[in-house]
Amino acid sequence: MLRIAESLETQLRAAMQRAFPDAAASGQGFDPQLAPASKPEFGDFQANGALPLAKPLGQPPRKIAEAVVEQLKADPAFTELCQDPQIAGPGFINLTLKPERLAAEVQARLGDQRLGVPAVEQAAPVVVDFSSPNIAKEMHVGHLRSTIIGDSLARVLEFRGHPVLRLNHVGDWGTQFGMLITHLKQVAPEALDTADAVDLGDLVAFYREAKKRFDEDEAFQTTSREEVVKLQGGDPVSLKAWGLLCDQSRREFQKIYDRLDIRLSERGESFYNPYLEGVVKDLDASGLLVVDDGARCVFLEGVSGKDGKPLPVIVQKRDGGFNYATTDLAAIRYRFGDAPQGDGARRVVYVTDAGQANHFAGVFQVARRAGWLPDGARLEHVPFGLVQGEDGKKLKTRAGDTVRLRDLLDEAVERAEADLRRRLQEEERSEDEAFITQVATTVGLAAVKYADLSQNRITNYQFSFDRMLALQGNTAPYLLYAVVRIAGIARKGGDLEAGSTAPLQFSEPQEWALVRELLKFDAVIAEVEEELLPNRLCTYLFELSQVFNRFYDQVPVLKAEGPARSSRLALCRLTADTLKLGLGLLGIPTLERM
Ligand code: ARG
Repeated sequence: MLRIAESLETQLRAAMQRAFPDAAASGQGFDPQLAPASKPEFGDFQANGALPLAKPLGQPPRKIAEAVVEQLKADPAFTELCQDPQIAGPGFINLTLKPERLAAEVQARLGDQRLGVPAVEQAAPVVVDFSSPNIAKEMHVGHLRSTIIGDSLARVLEFRGHPVLRLNHVGDWGTQFGMLITHLKQVAPEALDTADAVDLGDLVAFYREAKKRFDEDEAFQTTSREEVVKLQGGDPVSLKAWGLLCDQSRREFQKIYDRLDIRLSERGESFYNPYLEGVVKDLDASGLLVVDDGARCVFLEGVSGKDGKPLPVIVQKRDGGFNYATTDLAAIRYRFGDAPQGDGARRVVYVTDAGQANHFAGVFQVARRAGWLPDGARLEHVPFGLVQGEDGKKLKTRAGDTVRLRDLLDEAVERAEADLRRRLQEEERSEDEAFITQVATTVGLAAVKYADLSQNRITNYQFSFDRMLALQGNTAPYLLYAVVRIAGIARKGGDLEAGSTAPLQFSEPQEWALVRELLKFDAVIAEVEEELLPNRLCTYLFELSQVFNRFYDQVPVLKAEGPARSSRLALCRLTADTLKLGLGLLGIPTLERM
Protein backbone atom coordinates (compact mmCIF):
# COMPACT_ATOMS: atom_id res chain seq x y z
CA MET A 1 0.00 0.00 0.00
CA LEU A 2 2.96 2.29 -0.51
CA ARG A 3 1.29 4.21 -3.31
CA ILE A 4 -1.85 4.75 -1.26
CA ALA A 5 0.26 5.89 1.68
CA GLU A 6 2.03 8.37 -0.57
CA SER A 7 -1.26 9.82 -1.82
CA LEU A 8 -2.57 10.09 1.71
CA GLU A 9 0.56 11.81 2.83
CA THR A 10 0.22 14.43 0.07
CA GLN A 11 -3.45 14.93 0.85
CA LEU A 12 -2.78 15.30 4.56
CA ARG A 13 -0.02 17.82 4.03
CA ALA A 14 -2.20 19.87 1.72
CA ALA A 15 -5.07 19.72 4.23
CA MET A 16 -2.77 20.96 6.98
CA GLN A 17 -1.63 23.84 4.83
CA ARG A 18 -5.20 24.77 3.96
CA ALA A 19 -6.23 24.57 7.61
CA PHE A 20 -3.46 26.91 8.70
CA PRO A 21 -2.72 29.15 5.73
CA ASP A 22 -1.06 31.90 7.78
CA ALA A 23 1.36 29.52 9.42
CA ALA A 24 2.04 27.92 6.07
CA ALA A 25 2.75 31.32 4.51
CA SER A 26 5.21 32.15 7.24
CA GLY A 27 7.17 28.98 6.56
CA GLN A 28 5.78 26.56 9.15
CA GLY A 29 6.53 23.00 8.00
CA PHE A 30 3.82 20.36 8.10
CA ASP A 31 4.67 16.73 8.56
CA PRO A 32 1.60 14.49 8.70
CA GLN A 33 3.58 11.76 10.48
CA LEU A 34 1.69 9.08 8.67
CA ALA A 35 2.23 5.52 9.84
CA PRO A 36 0.44 2.18 9.58
CA ALA A 37 -2.21 1.93 12.32
CA SER A 38 -0.77 0.43 15.47
CA LYS A 39 -3.91 -1.68 16.02
CA PRO A 40 -6.50 -2.97 13.55
CA GLU A 41 -9.30 -1.16 15.39
CA PHE A 42 -7.63 2.15 14.55
CA GLY A 43 -8.12 1.50 10.85
CA ASP A 44 -5.34 1.35 8.29
CA PHE A 45 -3.21 4.39 9.01
CA GLN A 46 -2.73 6.97 11.67
CA ALA A 47 -1.48 10.51 11.29
CA ASN A 48 0.11 11.95 14.39
CA GLY A 49 1.23 15.26 12.88
CA ALA A 50 -1.16 17.43 14.90
CA LEU A 51 0.69 16.89 18.16
CA PRO A 52 4.01 18.58 17.40
CA LEU A 53 2.08 21.56 15.94
CA ALA A 54 0.44 22.42 19.27
CA LYS A 55 3.31 24.62 20.36
CA PRO A 56 4.05 26.52 17.17
CA LEU A 57 0.35 27.07 16.45
CA GLY A 58 -0.60 27.75 20.08
CA GLN A 59 -3.64 25.48 19.94
CA PRO A 60 -4.62 22.19 21.57
CA PRO A 61 -3.67 19.30 19.25
CA ARG A 62 -7.22 17.97 19.16
CA LYS A 63 -8.41 21.25 17.72
CA ILE A 64 -5.65 21.15 15.15
CA ALA A 65 -6.65 17.61 14.21
CA GLU A 66 -10.28 18.72 13.86
CA ALA A 67 -9.31 21.52 11.52
CA VAL A 68 -7.23 19.13 9.41
CA VAL A 69 -10.04 16.58 9.26
CA GLU A 70 -12.43 19.30 8.13
CA GLN A 71 -10.14 20.05 5.21
CA LEU A 72 -9.64 16.38 4.39
CA LYS A 73 -13.37 15.85 4.13
CA ALA A 74 -13.53 18.64 1.58
CA ASP A 75 -10.97 16.90 -0.66
CA PRO A 76 -12.66 14.58 -3.17
CA ALA A 77 -9.42 12.66 -3.78
CA PHE A 78 -9.36 11.87 -0.08
CA THR A 79 -13.03 10.95 0.31
CA GLU A 80 -12.68 8.56 -2.60
CA LEU A 81 -9.93 6.75 -0.73
CA CYS A 82 -11.00 6.88 2.90
CA GLN A 83 -13.95 6.72 5.20
CA ASP A 84 -14.59 9.63 7.57
CA PRO A 85 -11.42 10.12 9.65
CA GLN A 86 -11.66 9.60 13.40
CA ILE A 87 -9.83 11.64 15.98
CA ALA A 88 -8.48 9.66 18.89
CA GLY A 89 -6.67 10.44 22.14
CA PRO A 90 -4.92 13.79 22.30
CA GLY A 91 -5.22 14.36 18.53
CA PHE A 92 -4.30 11.32 16.47
CA ILE A 93 -6.12 11.07 13.16
CA ASN A 94 -7.16 7.50 12.36
CA LEU A 95 -7.74 6.65 8.74
CA THR A 96 -9.64 3.70 7.35
CA LEU A 97 -9.58 2.91 3.66
CA LYS A 98 -12.86 2.34 1.89
CA PRO A 99 -13.60 -1.36 1.36
CA GLU A 100 -14.02 -0.90 -2.39
CA ARG A 101 -10.55 0.68 -2.57
CA LEU A 102 -8.99 -2.26 -0.79
CA ALA A 103 -10.81 -4.66 -3.07
CA ALA A 104 -9.62 -2.70 -6.11
CA GLU A 105 -6.03 -2.92 -4.86
CA VAL A 106 -6.32 -6.69 -4.55
CA GLN A 107 -7.81 -6.82 -8.03
CA ALA A 108 -4.92 -4.80 -9.45
CA ARG A 109 -2.37 -7.14 -7.91
CA LEU A 110 -3.98 -10.24 -9.30
CA GLY A 111 -2.97 -9.25 -12.77
CA ASP A 112 0.42 -7.87 -11.81
CA GLN A 113 3.53 -10.03 -11.83
CA ARG A 114 5.26 -7.59 -9.49
CA LEU A 115 2.37 -7.85 -7.03
CA GLY A 116 2.28 -4.11 -6.53
CA VAL A 117 5.98 -3.66 -5.88
CA PRO A 118 7.15 -0.77 -8.05
CA ALA A 119 10.44 -0.97 -9.92
CA VAL A 120 12.93 1.71 -8.93
CA GLU A 121 13.04 4.73 -11.18
CA GLN A 122 16.71 5.50 -10.81
CA ALA A 123 18.51 2.22 -11.00
CA ALA A 124 22.13 2.40 -9.96
CA PRO A 125 24.47 -0.55 -9.68
CA VAL A 126 24.63 -2.19 -6.27
CA VAL A 127 27.52 -4.43 -5.30
CA VAL A 128 26.71 -7.25 -2.93
CA ASP A 129 29.97 -8.71 -1.64
CA PHE A 130 29.07 -12.05 -0.12
CA SER A 131 30.08 -15.66 0.49
CA SER A 132 33.80 -14.93 -0.08
CA PRO A 133 35.48 -18.06 1.30
CA ASN A 134 39.23 -18.49 1.33
CA ILE A 135 41.10 -20.61 -1.18
CA ALA A 136 42.43 -23.91 0.14
CA LYS A 137 40.54 -23.45 3.35
CA GLU A 138 37.25 -24.82 4.46
CA MET A 139 34.13 -22.99 3.44
CA HIS A 140 32.54 -22.95 6.87
CA VAL A 141 29.12 -22.24 8.33
CA GLY A 142 29.96 -18.53 8.56
CA HIS A 143 30.45 -18.49 4.81
CA LEU A 144 27.20 -20.39 4.45
CA ARG A 145 25.39 -17.65 6.35
CA SER A 146 27.00 -15.00 4.20
CA THR A 147 26.05 -16.94 1.09
CA ILE A 148 22.41 -17.37 2.06
CA ILE A 149 21.87 -13.85 3.38
CA GLY A 150 23.81 -12.21 0.56
CA ASP A 151 21.93 -14.13 -2.11
CA SER A 152 18.59 -13.12 -0.64
CA LEU A 153 19.57 -9.45 -0.43
CA ALA A 154 20.79 -9.58 -4.02
CA ARG A 155 17.50 -11.10 -5.11
CA VAL A 156 15.47 -8.39 -3.39
CA LEU A 157 17.61 -5.63 -4.88
CA GLU A 158 17.39 -7.21 -8.33
CA PHE A 159 13.65 -7.53 -8.04
CA ARG A 160 13.42 -3.84 -7.23
CA GLY A 161 15.21 -3.23 -10.52
CA HIS A 162 18.75 -2.44 -9.44
CA PRO A 163 21.55 -3.86 -11.53
CA VAL A 164 23.29 -6.04 -8.94
CA LEU A 165 26.86 -7.20 -9.04
CA ARG A 166 27.12 -10.33 -6.94
CA LEU A 167 30.77 -10.46 -6.04
CA ASN A 168 32.63 -13.33 -4.48
CA HIS A 169 35.61 -11.65 -2.83
CA VAL A 170 37.47 -14.92 -2.34
CA GLY A 171 40.67 -14.93 -0.31
CA ASP A 172 42.92 -15.98 -3.16
CA TRP A 173 46.01 -13.94 -2.35
CA GLY A 174 48.29 -13.64 0.59
CA THR A 175 51.20 -15.21 2.35
CA GLN A 176 49.57 -18.61 2.86
CA PHE A 177 50.21 -19.31 -0.82
CA GLY A 178 53.94 -19.40 -0.21
CA MET A 179 53.70 -22.56 1.84
CA LEU A 180 50.94 -24.08 -0.28
CA ILE A 181 52.89 -23.70 -3.50
CA THR A 182 56.13 -24.89 -1.93
CA HIS A 183 54.35 -27.96 -0.63
CA LEU A 184 52.72 -28.58 -3.99
CA LYS A 185 55.99 -28.29 -5.88
CA GLN A 186 57.52 -30.85 -3.56
CA VAL A 187 54.79 -33.43 -3.24
CA ALA A 188 53.22 -33.20 -6.69
CA PRO A 189 55.62 -31.58 -9.13
CA GLU A 190 53.93 -33.36 -12.03
CA ALA A 191 50.83 -31.25 -11.39
CA LEU A 192 52.68 -28.26 -12.77
CA ASP A 193 53.17 -29.48 -16.29
CA THR A 194 50.49 -32.10 -16.89
CA ALA A 195 46.90 -30.99 -16.96
CA ASP A 196 44.81 -32.63 -14.26
CA ALA A 197 47.79 -34.80 -13.27
CA VAL A 198 46.81 -34.85 -9.64
CA ASP A 199 43.61 -34.54 -7.86
CA LEU A 200 44.51 -32.58 -4.79
CA GLY A 201 41.48 -34.17 -3.27
CA ASP A 202 41.00 -32.83 0.13
CA LEU A 203 42.51 -29.42 -0.15
CA VAL A 204 41.86 -28.73 3.49
CA ALA A 205 44.06 -31.66 4.48
CA PHE A 206 46.64 -30.40 2.01
CA TYR A 207 46.55 -27.03 3.72
CA ARG A 208 47.00 -28.67 7.10
CA GLU A 209 50.04 -30.63 5.90
CA ALA A 210 51.64 -27.54 4.43
CA LYS A 211 51.00 -25.58 7.59
CA LYS A 212 52.50 -28.33 9.72
CA ARG A 213 55.69 -28.34 7.67
CA PHE A 214 55.80 -24.57 7.76
CA ASP A 215 55.59 -24.56 11.55
CA GLU A 216 58.18 -27.30 12.01
CA ASP A 217 60.72 -26.94 9.25
CA GLU A 218 62.87 -23.85 8.99
CA ALA A 219 64.12 -24.56 5.47
CA PHE A 220 60.56 -25.01 4.32
CA GLN A 221 59.71 -21.67 5.89
CA THR A 222 62.46 -19.90 4.03
CA THR A 223 61.48 -21.43 0.71
CA SER A 224 57.86 -20.49 1.38
CA ARG A 225 58.75 -16.86 1.98
CA GLU A 226 60.77 -16.78 -1.22
CA GLU A 227 57.83 -18.35 -2.99
CA VAL A 228 55.54 -15.48 -1.92
CA VAL A 229 57.96 -13.01 -3.45
CA LYS A 230 58.15 -15.05 -6.65
CA LEU A 231 54.39 -15.25 -6.89
CA GLN A 232 53.95 -11.54 -6.35
CA GLY A 233 56.67 -10.91 -8.88
CA GLY A 234 54.65 -12.84 -11.46
CA ASP A 235 56.88 -15.93 -11.83
CA PRO A 236 55.04 -18.17 -14.33
CA VAL A 237 55.61 -21.46 -12.48
CA SER A 238 54.42 -19.98 -9.22
CA LEU A 239 51.42 -18.48 -10.93
CA LYS A 240 50.63 -21.82 -12.48
CA ALA A 241 50.74 -23.53 -9.09
CA TRP A 242 48.62 -20.79 -7.62
CA GLY A 243 46.09 -21.22 -10.42
CA LEU A 244 45.90 -24.96 -9.77
CA LEU A 245 45.15 -24.46 -6.12
CA CYS A 246 42.52 -21.84 -6.88
CA ASP A 247 40.83 -24.04 -9.48
CA GLN A 248 40.64 -26.92 -7.11
CA SER A 249 39.01 -24.82 -4.39
CA ARG A 250 36.70 -23.18 -6.85
CA ARG A 251 35.37 -26.56 -7.96
CA GLU A 252 34.56 -27.45 -4.37
CA PHE A 253 32.87 -24.10 -3.67
CA GLN A 254 30.88 -24.37 -6.88
CA LYS A 255 29.32 -27.63 -5.75
CA ILE A 256 27.81 -25.84 -2.77
CA TYR A 257 26.66 -22.91 -4.89
CA ASP A 258 25.02 -25.24 -7.39
CA ARG A 259 23.13 -27.09 -4.71
CA LEU A 260 21.88 -23.87 -3.20
CA ASP A 261 21.19 -22.21 -6.56
CA ILE A 262 23.54 -19.32 -5.90
CA ARG A 263 24.86 -17.16 -8.71
CA LEU A 264 28.11 -15.36 -7.99
CA SER A 265 30.89 -13.73 -9.94
CA GLU A 266 34.28 -14.45 -8.59
CA ARG A 267 36.49 -11.45 -8.17
CA GLY A 268 39.00 -12.40 -5.56
CA GLU A 269 41.52 -10.38 -3.64
CA SER A 270 44.15 -10.99 -6.34
CA PHE A 271 42.12 -8.91 -8.78
CA TYR A 272 42.97 -5.76 -6.83
CA ASN A 273 46.68 -6.47 -6.74
CA PRO A 274 47.54 -3.96 -9.46
CA TYR A 275 45.65 -1.25 -7.59
CA LEU A 276 47.27 -1.58 -4.17
CA GLU A 277 50.17 0.82 -4.79
CA GLY A 278 47.69 3.39 -6.04
CA VAL A 279 45.82 3.21 -2.73
CA VAL A 280 48.96 4.02 -0.77
CA LYS A 281 49.97 6.80 -3.16
CA ASP A 282 46.57 8.39 -3.06
CA LEU A 283 46.34 8.29 0.71
CA ASP A 284 49.75 9.90 0.83
CA ALA A 285 48.72 12.63 -1.61
CA SER A 286 45.62 13.41 0.43
CA GLY A 287 47.74 13.81 3.54
CA LEU A 288 46.18 10.94 5.45
CA LEU A 289 49.18 8.63 5.41
CA VAL A 290 51.44 8.40 8.44
CA VAL A 291 54.59 6.28 8.67
CA ASP A 292 54.61 4.62 12.06
CA ASP A 293 57.45 2.32 13.02
CA GLY A 294 58.09 1.67 9.34
CA ALA A 295 54.48 0.80 8.56
CA ARG A 296 52.30 3.07 6.49
CA CYS A 297 48.97 3.70 8.08
CA VAL A 298 46.01 5.99 8.49
CA PHE A 299 44.99 6.81 12.05
CA LEU A 300 41.28 6.55 12.65
CA GLU A 301 39.22 9.37 14.05
CA GLY A 302 37.12 8.50 17.06
CA VAL A 303 38.49 4.97 17.37
CA SER A 304 41.10 4.40 20.01
CA GLY A 305 42.74 1.37 21.56
CA LYS A 306 43.10 0.43 25.21
CA ASP A 307 45.89 2.95 25.70
CA GLY A 308 43.61 5.76 24.50
CA LYS A 309 45.64 6.36 21.35
CA PRO A 310 43.89 6.37 17.96
CA LEU A 311 43.97 3.03 16.17
CA PRO A 312 45.56 2.77 12.74
CA VAL A 313 44.50 1.02 9.58
CA ILE A 314 47.80 -0.35 8.30
CA VAL A 315 47.92 -0.20 4.53
CA GLN A 316 51.51 -1.26 3.98
CA LYS A 317 53.61 -3.26 6.35
CA ARG A 318 57.25 -2.56 7.15
CA ASP A 319 58.34 -5.28 4.74
CA GLY A 320 56.37 -3.63 1.93
CA GLY A 321 53.53 -6.17 2.00
CA PHE A 322 49.92 -5.10 1.78
CA ASN A 323 47.02 -6.10 4.02
CA TYR A 324 43.45 -7.36 3.83
CA ALA A 325 42.43 -3.75 4.51
CA THR A 326 44.51 -2.42 1.61
CA THR A 327 42.71 -4.79 -0.73
CA ASP A 328 39.36 -3.64 0.60
CA LEU A 329 40.36 -0.02 0.08
CA ALA A 330 41.34 -0.79 -3.51
CA ALA A 331 38.04 -2.63 -3.94
CA ILE A 332 36.06 0.38 -2.70
CA ARG A 333 37.78 2.66 -5.19
CA TYR A 334 37.18 0.20 -7.97
CA ARG A 335 33.56 -0.44 -7.14
CA PHE A 336 32.61 3.21 -6.92
CA GLY A 337 34.90 4.16 -9.79
CA ASP A 338 33.55 4.76 -13.25
CA ALA A 339 33.71 2.19 -16.02
CA PRO A 340 35.81 0.81 -17.62
CA GLN A 341 38.18 1.01 -14.66
CA GLY A 342 35.38 0.56 -12.18
CA ASP A 343 31.86 -0.65 -11.50
CA GLY A 344 30.07 2.69 -11.18
CA ALA A 345 28.25 1.47 -8.08
CA ARG A 346 26.26 3.74 -5.78
CA ARG A 347 25.72 1.22 -3.01
CA VAL A 348 28.12 -1.46 -1.81
CA VAL A 349 27.14 -3.96 0.86
CA TYR A 350 29.37 -6.50 2.57
CA VAL A 351 27.86 -9.57 4.14
CA THR A 352 30.25 -10.99 6.73
CA ASP A 353 30.24 -12.08 10.33
CA ALA A 354 29.98 -9.35 12.94
CA GLY A 355 33.59 -10.04 13.92
CA GLN A 356 34.69 -7.95 10.93
CA ALA A 357 32.70 -4.88 12.00
CA ASN A 358 35.77 -2.96 13.13
CA HIS A 359 37.65 -3.82 9.98
CA PHE A 360 34.88 -2.41 7.81
CA ALA A 361 34.27 0.63 10.01
CA GLY A 362 37.96 1.49 9.70
CA VAL A 363 38.16 0.91 5.97
CA PHE A 364 34.95 2.86 5.33
CA GLN A 365 36.22 5.78 7.34
CA VAL A 366 39.50 5.90 5.43
CA ALA A 367 37.70 5.72 2.08
CA ARG A 368 35.35 8.52 3.09
CA ARG A 369 38.12 10.78 4.33
CA ALA A 370 40.14 10.10 1.21
CA GLY A 371 37.20 11.39 -0.81
CA TRP A 372 36.64 8.16 -2.75
CA LEU A 373 32.89 8.05 -2.28
CA PRO A 374 30.68 9.79 -4.81
CA ASP A 375 27.83 11.96 -3.50
CA GLY A 376 25.05 9.92 -2.01
CA ALA A 377 27.07 6.71 -2.14
CA ARG A 378 26.19 4.10 0.44
CA LEU A 379 28.75 1.79 1.94
CA GLU A 380 27.26 -0.74 4.33
CA HIS A 381 28.48 -3.65 6.37
CA VAL A 382 25.76 -6.26 6.83
CA PRO A 383 26.98 -8.16 9.87
CA PHE A 384 25.63 -11.43 11.19
CA GLY A 385 26.12 -13.45 14.35
CA LEU A 386 27.69 -16.84 14.88
CA VAL A 387 26.17 -20.17 14.05
CA GLN A 388 26.05 -22.24 17.22
CA GLY A 389 25.20 -25.81 18.03
CA GLU A 390 22.18 -26.60 20.16
CA ASP A 391 24.44 -26.42 23.21
CA GLY A 392 25.07 -22.75 22.47
CA LYS A 393 28.71 -23.45 21.61
CA LYS A 394 30.46 -23.39 18.29
CA LEU A 395 28.83 -25.76 15.83
CA LYS A 396 30.76 -29.06 15.80
CA THR A 397 30.18 -32.65 14.76
CA ARG A 398 29.65 -35.27 17.45
CA ALA A 399 33.31 -36.20 17.07
CA GLY A 400 34.22 -32.59 17.74
CA ASP A 401 35.30 -31.65 14.21
CA THR A 402 34.18 -28.63 12.25
CA VAL A 403 31.05 -29.36 10.28
CA ARG A 404 31.51 -29.64 6.54
CA LEU A 405 28.90 -27.77 4.59
CA ARG A 406 28.40 -30.70 2.26
CA ASP A 407 27.58 -32.98 5.20
CA LEU A 408 25.33 -30.39 6.74
CA LEU A 409 23.23 -30.04 3.58
CA ASP A 410 23.17 -33.82 3.12
CA GLU A 411 21.88 -34.30 6.62
CA ALA A 412 19.13 -31.71 6.17
CA VAL A 413 17.94 -33.51 3.03
CA GLU A 414 18.18 -36.95 4.64
CA ARG A 415 16.14 -35.84 7.62
CA ALA A 416 13.57 -34.18 5.39
CA GLU A 417 13.31 -37.46 3.50
CA ALA A 418 12.83 -39.49 6.67
CA ASP A 419 10.12 -37.07 7.84
CA LEU A 420 8.39 -37.33 4.49
CA ARG A 421 8.43 -41.13 4.43
CA ARG A 422 6.99 -41.22 7.92
CA ARG A 423 4.22 -38.83 6.94
CA LEU A 424 3.40 -40.77 3.77
CA GLN A 425 3.06 -43.91 5.81
CA GLU A 426 0.80 -42.24 8.34
CA GLU A 427 -1.36 -40.82 5.60
CA GLU A 428 -1.29 -44.13 3.73
CA ARG A 429 -0.13 -42.36 0.61
CA SER A 430 2.18 -43.87 -1.92
CA GLU A 431 4.47 -41.71 -4.03
CA ASP A 432 7.24 -42.60 -6.44
CA GLU A 433 10.92 -42.16 -5.61
CA ALA A 434 11.35 -39.19 -7.92
CA PHE A 435 8.69 -37.32 -5.99
CA ILE A 436 10.27 -38.22 -2.66
CA THR A 437 13.71 -37.09 -3.77
CA GLN A 438 12.44 -33.84 -5.16
CA VAL A 439 10.35 -32.95 -2.12
CA ALA A 440 13.06 -33.97 0.35
CA THR A 441 15.72 -31.95 -1.47
CA THR A 442 13.54 -28.86 -1.73
CA VAL A 443 12.36 -29.04 1.87
CA GLY A 444 15.77 -29.88 3.32
CA LEU A 445 17.61 -27.06 1.61
CA ALA A 446 14.74 -24.63 2.15
CA ALA A 447 14.83 -25.43 5.87
CA VAL A 448 18.53 -24.61 6.11
CA LYS A 449 18.14 -21.36 4.21
CA TYR A 450 15.00 -20.25 5.99
CA ALA A 451 16.31 -21.04 9.47
CA ASP A 452 19.19 -18.73 8.75
CA LEU A 453 17.20 -15.95 7.09
CA SER A 454 14.36 -15.87 9.59
CA GLN A 455 16.60 -14.94 12.51
CA ASN A 456 17.51 -11.36 13.04
CA ARG A 457 20.91 -11.77 11.43
CA ILE A 458 22.72 -9.71 14.07
CA THR A 459 22.12 -12.28 16.79
CA ASN A 460 23.91 -15.60 17.05
CA TYR A 461 21.76 -18.44 15.96
CA GLN A 462 21.41 -21.97 17.18
CA PHE A 463 21.42 -24.49 14.45
CA SER A 464 18.82 -27.20 15.03
CA PHE A 465 17.66 -29.65 12.40
CA ASP A 466 14.61 -30.53 14.47
CA ARG A 467 13.47 -26.96 14.75
CA MET A 468 14.10 -25.97 11.15
CA LEU A 469 12.30 -29.03 9.77
CA ALA A 470 9.24 -28.72 11.99
CA LEU A 471 5.93 -28.44 10.17
CA GLN A 472 4.69 -25.93 12.72
CA GLY A 473 6.09 -22.55 13.61
CA ASN A 474 8.10 -20.03 11.63
CA THR A 475 9.79 -22.62 9.41
CA ALA A 476 10.23 -23.35 5.73
CA PRO A 477 8.05 -26.48 5.86
CA TYR A 478 5.18 -24.45 7.35
CA LEU A 479 5.35 -21.88 4.56
CA LEU A 480 5.84 -24.45 1.83
CA TYR A 481 2.85 -26.27 3.19
CA ALA A 482 0.66 -23.16 2.92
CA VAL A 483 1.56 -22.95 -0.78
CA VAL A 484 0.78 -26.64 -1.20
CA ARG A 485 -2.55 -26.19 0.53
CA ILE A 486 -3.56 -23.46 -1.91
CA ALA A 487 -2.36 -25.50 -4.88
CA GLY A 488 -4.67 -28.25 -3.57
CA ILE A 489 -7.62 -25.86 -3.59
CA ALA A 490 -6.86 -24.95 -7.18
CA ARG A 491 -6.67 -28.63 -8.12
CA LYS A 492 -10.08 -29.25 -6.62
CA GLY A 493 -11.48 -27.17 -9.42
CA GLY A 494 -11.08 -23.96 -7.57
CA ASP A 495 -8.66 -21.99 -9.66
CA LEU A 496 -9.88 -18.58 -10.56
CA GLU A 497 -10.45 -18.20 -14.26
CA ALA A 498 -7.55 -16.15 -15.56
CA GLY A 499 -8.39 -12.58 -16.43
CA SER A 500 -11.60 -12.54 -14.42
CA THR A 501 -12.51 -8.93 -13.85
CA ALA A 502 -15.69 -9.34 -11.84
CA PRO A 503 -15.43 -6.93 -8.90
CA LEU A 504 -14.32 -8.61 -5.70
CA GLN A 505 -16.66 -8.69 -2.75
CA PHE A 506 -15.68 -9.38 0.80
CA SER A 507 -17.82 -9.52 3.91
CA GLU A 508 -16.10 -11.64 6.56
CA PRO A 509 -13.57 -10.16 8.98
CA GLN A 510 -11.13 -12.99 8.11
CA GLU A 511 -11.34 -11.92 4.49
CA TRP A 512 -10.54 -8.32 5.33
CA ALA A 513 -7.70 -9.40 7.58
CA LEU A 514 -6.22 -11.37 4.69
CA VAL A 515 -6.75 -8.49 2.25
CA ARG A 516 -4.90 -6.10 4.54
CA GLU A 517 -2.09 -8.58 5.11
CA LEU A 518 -1.66 -9.18 1.38
CA LEU A 519 -1.48 -5.47 0.68
CA LYS A 520 1.51 -5.05 3.03
CA PHE A 521 3.84 -6.88 0.67
CA ASP A 522 5.20 -3.85 -1.17
CA ALA A 523 6.05 -2.03 2.04
CA VAL A 524 7.86 -5.09 3.38
CA ILE A 525 10.00 -5.35 0.26
CA ALA A 526 10.86 -1.65 0.45
CA GLU A 527 11.89 -2.15 4.06
CA VAL A 528 14.16 -5.09 3.26
CA GLU A 529 15.75 -3.10 0.47
CA GLU A 530 16.45 -0.28 2.87
CA GLU A 531 17.44 -2.11 6.03
CA LEU A 532 18.90 -5.25 4.48
CA LEU A 533 17.12 -7.50 6.96
CA PRO A 534 15.67 -10.58 5.24
CA ASN A 535 14.06 -11.71 8.50
CA ARG A 536 11.45 -8.96 8.00
CA LEU A 537 10.32 -10.70 4.84
CA CYS A 538 10.29 -14.06 6.65
CA THR A 539 8.16 -12.71 9.48
CA TYR A 540 5.76 -11.23 6.97
CA LEU A 541 5.41 -14.47 5.00
CA PHE A 542 4.88 -16.39 8.23
CA GLU A 543 2.16 -13.99 9.36
CA LEU A 544 0.56 -14.06 5.95
CA SER A 545 0.42 -17.87 6.10
CA GLN A 546 -1.15 -17.73 9.53
CA VAL A 547 -3.76 -15.19 8.47
CA PHE A 548 -4.47 -17.28 5.40
CA ASN A 549 -4.87 -20.48 7.40
CA ARG A 550 -7.27 -18.74 9.77
CA PHE A 551 -9.26 -17.48 6.81
CA TYR A 552 -9.34 -20.87 5.14
CA ASP A 553 -10.28 -22.71 8.30
CA GLN A 554 -13.15 -20.35 9.08
CA VAL A 555 -14.54 -19.16 5.78
CA PRO A 556 -15.93 -21.58 3.19
CA VAL A 557 -14.23 -21.22 -0.16
CA LEU A 558 -15.03 -24.15 -2.42
CA LYS A 559 -18.50 -24.47 -0.93
CA ALA A 560 -19.29 -20.79 -1.43
CA GLU A 561 -21.14 -19.58 -4.50
CA GLY A 562 -21.17 -16.71 -6.94
CA PRO A 563 -19.09 -13.58 -6.29
CA ALA A 564 -18.23 -14.73 -2.77
CA ARG A 565 -16.63 -17.87 -4.16
CA SER A 566 -14.64 -16.13 -6.87
CA SER A 567 -13.56 -13.38 -4.49
CA ARG A 568 -12.30 -15.94 -1.98
CA LEU A 569 -10.52 -17.87 -4.67
CA ALA A 570 -8.90 -14.64 -5.72
CA LEU A 571 -7.56 -14.23 -2.18
CA CYS A 572 -6.23 -17.79 -2.28
CA ARG A 573 -4.47 -17.11 -5.53
CA LEU A 574 -2.96 -13.84 -4.45
CA THR A 575 -1.78 -15.47 -1.22
CA ALA A 576 -0.07 -18.24 -3.16
CA ASP A 577 1.50 -15.75 -5.57
CA THR A 578 2.76 -13.62 -2.71
CA LEU A 579 4.22 -16.61 -0.87
CA LYS A 580 5.90 -17.88 -4.02
CA LEU A 581 7.37 -14.54 -4.92
CA GLY A 582 8.42 -13.86 -1.34
CA LEU A 583 10.03 -17.25 -0.88
CA GLY A 584 11.67 -16.85 -4.29
CA LEU A 585 13.29 -13.66 -3.00
CA LEU A 586 14.68 -15.69 -0.14
CA GLY A 587 16.12 -18.15 -2.67
CA ILE A 588 13.56 -20.82 -1.81
CA PRO A 589 11.61 -22.61 -4.55
CA THR A 590 8.10 -23.86 -3.74
CA LEU A 591 6.24 -27.11 -4.39
CA GLU A 592 2.79 -27.95 -5.70
CA ARG A 593 2.52 -31.06 -3.55
CA MET A 594 4.50 -32.35 -0.60
N1 ARG B 1 37.48 -13.92 2.88
C1 ARG B 1 36.93 -13.25 4.03
C2 ARG B 1 36.67 -14.27 5.15
O1 ARG B 1 36.60 -15.45 4.90
C3 ARG B 1 35.65 -12.50 3.74
C4 ARG B 1 35.76 -11.39 2.73
C5 ARG B 1 34.63 -10.42 2.82
N2 ARG B 1 34.69 -9.38 1.84
C6 ARG B 1 35.54 -8.35 1.83
N3 ARG B 1 35.47 -7.49 0.86
N4 ARG B 1 36.42 -8.19 2.79
O2 ARG B 1 36.50 -13.87 6.28
